[in-house]
Amino acid sequence: MTKQVQLVVNGEAYHLDLEPNRLLLHVLRDDIGLTGTKEGCSIGVCGACSVIVDGRLVSSCLTLAVGCQNKNIETIEGLAKDGKLHPLQQAFIEFGGFQCGICTPGQIMAAKALLDENPKPSEEEVKEWMSGNLCRCTGYYKILESVMAVVNEKISPDFQFRARRQEAKIQSLDVYKSVAKTE
Ligand code: FES
Ligand code: FES
Repeated sequence: MTKQVQLVVNGEAYHLDLEPNRLLLHVLRDDIGLTGTKEGCSIGVCGACSVIVDGRLVSSCLTLAVGCQNKNIETIEGLAKDGKLHPLQQAFIEFGGFQCGICTPGQIMAAKALLDENPKPSEEEVKEWMSGNLCRCTGYYKILESVMAVVNEKISPDFQFRARRQEAKIQSLDVYKSVAKTE
């Protein structure tokens, strides 16, 4: 039997008919279409699925969506405002806090939850807090550097995000063709 639920995600209300056993992670991704939140371990260990619910960092892979009735849910998609990246998003780009990017939305949401509570944590406090967010690529130093750049106000005031140029994509396809010998 389904239950009618209202979820407030990034300030927008969604009215959904949900089975009581649906996980918040899957409802965000499959029903609402916000695929920024990632699924890693599915058992509450890796932090890839981290979102903020009523100000508290949670693993959405362990959270029942029906339990979030009328709660405020923040996901990575809600951080940029008026075309401007959140300082943490900017810092992860400027300071190279990601590689493959699978863990990145969870890392950024975890860091946001910390900085919302304590805008000036020490490096040790950041390390301790972020220890629940695993990364297989970066070696963690660049993630720490990115978060500390926000804490210490080191991000550039005039930063402008530039999407990858079209020619770059074409060039990499050409490289692929020659390596894979598809032509
Ligand atoms: S997918 Fe939720 S903690 Fe890993
Ligand atoms: S950037 Fe690849 S897992 Fe963290």
